[in-house]
Amino acid sequence: MSVTFLESIEPGNVGSVVVLVAFENDKSFIAEKLEELLPCRIPDTVALLLDDLGYNKISSFSLILDGSLREIIIVGAGSMKFSTRASLEKLGGYICDNIKTNEAKVTIFSNIESDDLKTASAYITSGMQLKAWVFDKYKAKKQEPKVVAISCQTRYQDANKKEFDCLSAVNEGVCTVRRMSTEPANVMTPDQMVEEAKDLKHYGVKVSVLDKKDMEKIGMNALLGVGQGSENPSYLITMEYMEGDKSDLIALVGKGLTFDSGGISIKPANKMGEMKEDMTGAAVVIGAIKALASQKVKANVVGVIGVVENMVSGKAQRPGDVVVAMSKKTIEVDNTDAEGRLVLADALWYTKEKFSPKIIIDFATLTGAIQVALGHEFAGLFSNSDDLCARLFDSSDTVGEKLWRFPLHHSYEDDIKSCIADIKNVGSGRGAGSITAALFLKHFVDPDVKWAHIDIAAVAADSKNRALSQRGATGFGVRLIDNFVKNYKEIV
Ligand code: BES
Ligand code: ZN
Ligand code: ZN
Repeated sequence: MSVTFLESIEPGNVGSVVVLVAFENDKSFIAEKLEELLPCRIPDTVALLLDDLGYNKISSFSLILDGSLREIIIVGAGSMKFSTRASLEKLGGYICDNIKTNEAKVTIFSNIESDDLKTASAYITSGMQLKAWVFDKYKAKKQEPKVVAISCQTRYQDANKKEFDCLSAVNEGVCTVRRMSTEPANVMTPDQMVEEAKDLKHYGVKVSVLDKKDMEKIGMNALLGVGQGSENPSYLITMEYMEGDKSDLIALVGKGLTFDSGGISIKPANKMGEMKEDMTGAAVVIGAIKALASQKVKANVVGVIGVVENMVSGKAQRPGDVVVAMSKKTIEVDNTDAEGRLVLADALWYTKEKFSPKIIIDFATLTGAIQVALGHEFAGLFSNSDDLCARLFDSSDTVGEKLWRFPLHHSYEDDIKSCIADIKNVGSGRGAGSITAALFLKHFVDPDVKWAHIDIAAVAADSKNRALSQRGATGFGVRLIDNFVKNYKEIV
């Protein structure tokens, strides 16, 4: 999709779709633009459409202009004062959704030309770019791209171009996550995850891969136990992007279950196929580092992902088994379906030992319980640091990826006490499944490190279309981390 920002677009140069975006219910702006574009008086029916120009109202009609059929879309965009990157990206998604023309060449005119919000056009086009993404790799009949080109009329061409170049790099990271999550588990295998991570080398990222032997040597038995029932090998992958001179090191850790059958504590057949998406936390780490590195953001970020397949076989881990984690804590594996926390236990401990980061943020499709609590709107946030949470909330507000903080309170600890080991991997069935999962992880995090765990089990994918994505994978997390890292100033 090509995107250009132009100072003026002559009526003769408009594309197959013309979008008129009116903020502040400015009907005269629309009327003037239509008069410029149309070789005739505005038809009365169009004037009627303008009467109905409320917030997020879209009206469209088609006509022959310069000998070809054009779609004209009129959008009421609400208040300029309350417009933000998040609201404008959403608006872009909404516009994209309402385009009926295929392979559209879109020309956008808007009356949002304020010095306070110079890059409104970049935000709108970014939203359109995200919303237009589809996955049709396995379809014989490929979907025609909805939008092939966008040109926006704006007084701030340079600012918009610069901003859109960044947003586009971030969106590339988002769509990497969507693609990886959507690929089936027979394609997005642990070996393929290694290839995806190695692809970051093109952006100057150092990628290292620990295999079973390497992990056995350092005692990563919690992670290895999860993968022992699978024919596919397990890996721990690290990605180092060190472009921040002496600035603090931020570690991103991800759960990378390429498939989660539940293991011997097997899941029900219904919707088990969705568990191909259980590697999304790891994909978010890859996508975020790709976004940051391709923009050459000045930061030190390391990614650590545990890549494992949880399967059923004669070699699979049994409920009741005890494993010794890399930290030397013993874990009773009460339920083999609570495997993400076992993988993360070793990945988190390894991250601290190897890199001593100032901050750790982990992403994981960790619990079904988070969907019960929050539905598909908010991801669950768990943290030992109010300061880190405040920064994450700031980024969350900016990009519109919503977070809700849960208590990480020691009073739930009793639930994960084991009779025969230091800790067990599931709660005693007294509810709060997402909290006990997070508390389990806390055992493998140094209290001096500022840590946030983000449970993305319910936001990673949705069976309904969302503002910025079609049904399926969303890529939640990349835009959040991109903004967080860019805004990051040392934590003291
Ligand atoms: N991968 C699942 C969590 C999940 C559920 C992700 C639904 C996406 C959608 C995780 O490994 C799991 O199975 N968790 C169990 C934990 C339970 C056994 C304590 C769950 O949530 O049921
Ligand atoms: Zn599971
Ligand atoms: Zn899982």
